[in-house]
Amino acid sequence: MKRVCIIGISGKLGRYMAREALDRGYEVRGVCRPESVGKLADLAGRITLFPARTDDAEVVAEAVKSCDGVLTVLVPWGVKDYASGTARAVLENAEPDARLVFSCGWHISRDGQDVYSFKLKMIVAVFGRVAKWLRAADLDDQVRATDMIFASDRDWTVVRGSNLEEGPSEGLPVWAEHVGDPLLAANITRRVDFAKFMVHALTDDALTRQAPAIVSGVRKV
Ligand SMILES: NC(=O)c1ccc[n+]([C@@H]2O[C@H](COP(=O)([O-])OP(=O)(O)OC[C@H]3O[C@@H](n4cnc5c(N)ncnc54)[C@H](OP(=O)(O)O)[C@@H]3O)[C@@H](O)[C@H]2O)c1
Repeated sequence: MKRVCIIGISGKLGRYMAREALDRGYEVRGVCRPESVGKLADLAGRITLFPARTDDAEVVAEAVKSCDGVLTVLVPWGVKDYASGTARAVLENAEPDARLVFSCGWHISRDGQDVYSFKLKMIVAVFGRVAKWLRAADLDDQVRATDMIFASDRDWTVVRGSNLEEGPSEGLPVWAEHVGDPLLAANITRRVDFAKFMVHALTDDALTRQAPAIVSGVRKV
């Protein structure tokens, strides 16, 4: 892994991933919305930016050219297929042997074998309906995006995050194949460690074509 591209680099997760990738000595490129470029001022001179919406296939193609890894923050904002447009732009334009790592939440299920709490099901149902009614977000679009990734023959990993919080690192999160696994009971991960896991996944072959659900390894219920 020499050169990586972070799609959605200006958000909280994106900025943590940029720092983690720089710490590992990788050359870092990133795509973010033009109005968000200022959020990366502290990394000026250390990363190469391609300002554009993350579903802009032309700019994404330019940004991921010759990258060994692509880290993509999948977000379902708006009702114009932003998440699936972003996933498609990466899947269709990344180098053939690039490692592709995508972020999402526990609510995404690869095989329907995840067991969700009543609380999580209610949050997804209520937030999903209200956000769509307000035309603010479309959770189904994130589902379509990940279904596209799961069906792809690329070297992908879809990292499914638990509830997130800020704070210093607690170390690399642990993971399970399915939500509902007792290992995940604490349901909390530091955002900085979510980023650590995303970057770690680029070089962990055991995570290729897996959808790990992650959680802090040190929290006990
Ligand atoms: N938040 C949670 O509790 C949680 C839990 C589990 C998993 N996750 C996953 O973690 C990842 C990061 O999410 P996060 O909540 O922590 O937020 P985040 O890292 O701050 O990322 C939010 C992203 O959405 C973009 N964005 C915000 N408003 C937008 C808009 N109107 N149109 C287009 N893009 C917009 C941001 O770009 P700008 O910088 O341009 O605004 C940024 O790239 C996501 O994949 C999410 O599914 C989150």
